[in-house]
Amino acid sequence: MCWIFAYNGDKNSIPLLVDGLKDLEYRGYDSAGLIGIKSDGEVFFKKAVGRVSSLATKVDADTNSKWDYSTGIAHTRWATHGIVNEENTHPHTSANERFYVVHNGIIENFKELKAKLEEKYTFYSQTDTEVIAKLIEDSFEWDLRSTLEEMMKTMVGAYSIAVVDRENPDTIVGIKLGSPMIVGEADDGVYISSDVNALSKVAHSYVTLEDYEMVVVKDKQYKIYSAGEMISKNVSEMDIEYDTGDMGNFSSFTEKEIFEIPEVLGNVFNGRINFEDKSIGNETLSELNEHDIQRIEIIASGSSYYAGLIGSYWFRDLAGIPVNVTISSEFLCDTFLPDDKALYVFLSQSGETADVRESLKIVKAKWCLTFGIVNVVGSTIARLADMGLYSHAWVEVWVASTKNVIAQVGIMLMMSLSMWLARDLQYSKARAIIEELGWLGDKIHEVLISTSHIHEVAKKYTQYSDMFVLGRNIFYPTAGEISLKCKELSYIHTENYSAGELKHGPLALIDPELPCLFVNPAGKHYVKTVSNIEEVRARSWVVLGFISKWDPRKDDLYTDTIELPDTSETMAPFTSLIAGYIFALYLAQELDRDVDKPKNLAKSVTVE
Ligand code: G6P
Repeated sequence: MCWIFAYNGDKNSIPLLVDGLKDLEYRGYDSAGLIGIKSDGEVFFKKAVGRVSSLATKVDADTNSKWDYSTGIAHTRWATHGIVNEENTHPHTSANERFYVVHNGIIENFKELKAKLEEKYTFYSQTDTEVIAKLIEDSFEWDLRSTLEEMMKTMVGAYSIAVVDRENPDTIVGIKLGSPMIVGEADDGVYISSDVNALSKVAHSYVTLEDYEMVVVKDKQYKIYSAGEMISKNVSEMDIEYDTGDMGNFSSFTEKEIFEIPEVLGNVFNGRINFEDKSIGNETLSELNEHDIQRIEIIASGSSYYAGLIGSYWFRDLAGIPVNVTISSEFLCDTFLPDDKALYVFLSQSGETADVRESLKIVKAKWCLTFGIVNVVGSTIARLADMGLYSHAWVEVWVASTKNVIAQVGIMLMMSLSMWLARDLQYSKARAIIEELGWLGDKIHEVLISTSHIHEVAKKYTQYSDMFVLGRNIFYPTAGEISLKCKELSYIHTENYSAGELKHGPLALIDPELPCLFVNPAGKHYVKTVSNIEEVRARSWVVLGFISKWDPRKDDLYTDTIELPDTSETMAPFTSLIAGYIFALYLAQELDRDVDKPKNLAKSVTVE
């Protein structure tokens, strides 16, 4: 999505803005722009289509960039209104070129606002952000603060907005509703960012703005206002380490993140599971067990949604609790029937996904119990949820979520075990699972060292432009997540179906050009899925099996196989997902895709 970065202080803002944008780029990379203002009001204004590196080249080519622009705002764009071009790139300006604006979010009533403003002003772009700039000029009376206060009553939608005024060159005003905005304190000045990660290298502490709050930065100081009144807020020490490092021997950062999975799982379980006495000792989970939970509702988007679906099988099978999983954008459209005996679980890597955030607000407004499984510490969803566990997957930077999905799935297995033990003292069965969890890292290593075989198989499947990805029961959403990863990284069209549904329509499409990837490790439904595979093979069509080493049919049933270590069914979603991620990654690499930044996507989807 779009992200903003701003600075006022002792240093020249221009190189700081470019560096800040580089740290935010994974969140939107259609185009980028910045404006710096000197204390005499002179500006340095640049925009470029494409990556931040294109903007950096333009900036470097202009020697004026070396002057002292003590204030500046910058933006990376993920297009929502208007095509990807320079005109639509932020910052946007008022007609008198006095005010410049960067914006993350969507102004839903921009058409009505624009229609009125068009009587007075000519618009150069198709964006909703230009409407904000023109509206500031139109409603400005004596200061930016009161103008923006009034505009917050007029604008409908979600936004974080930073504005500079050439006639008050050492000032930045920021407002926020929905989309994130963080203020960073540094020895050299004040920074504003959509993302705390981008502040971690420059600020020693930070403050997170809540909805309808405003920050006014002036001469290296800042004040925060709510409903026109100045307020004081908690300042947090910057304890986040954000450094993606270099790629090392990996071929992409995504591959590097996949190889971090064993350590991430260590973060998830250590300190929460006691592998010695095979018990779960976590305060949050103990507190959760004090609630009378009769039902679980899981709400998420993207890969987090598939993680939720996988986890739902364990909540049902182990803890015996009915579960429903809903895509957050659909939850928002549906009638909400609050249930005070339900636990509402929100899964989000970023903690900022707009549909998940808005769903959480709806549930909270009805006083229902909310639980967040979030990776980014201090993010909006983490702050809003009543309870929660961090997924501790470290910073996940690259667009396709991998290590965080595994962490989310690990947390839900741990929650299910804890709820199971609290309801139905199945110690020996639960202990067997905990014992196996202790060995999971080794099983994952087995997958990670078999990458050359997965690579060879992936090469072969690049010849296809479509693929079905199938599984049964818990392996149905496991296949769903693998399917999503294949399409988002390789751009091969993949469809996910339940293996049993194949003959209810999709089979009509299968031919030698459309292979079926079946996720079918050993488990209680193995034989049924084998029957579905037989139905495909009876027609001599192509089947790639993600199967256990143990599989007695491995030599006669499949066209190709990717073998997973022998584990119980409970562990197999972990190993299948990791093998699937590696398969998707190599498909994409062989097709020469930008694995870390797939086209049209963004890491954090902060608009509905
Ligand atoms: C985007 C990302 C996905 C992610 C989804 C949900 O689409 O590209 O990788 O799964 O958002 O994000 P969240 O941060 O809520 O998990």
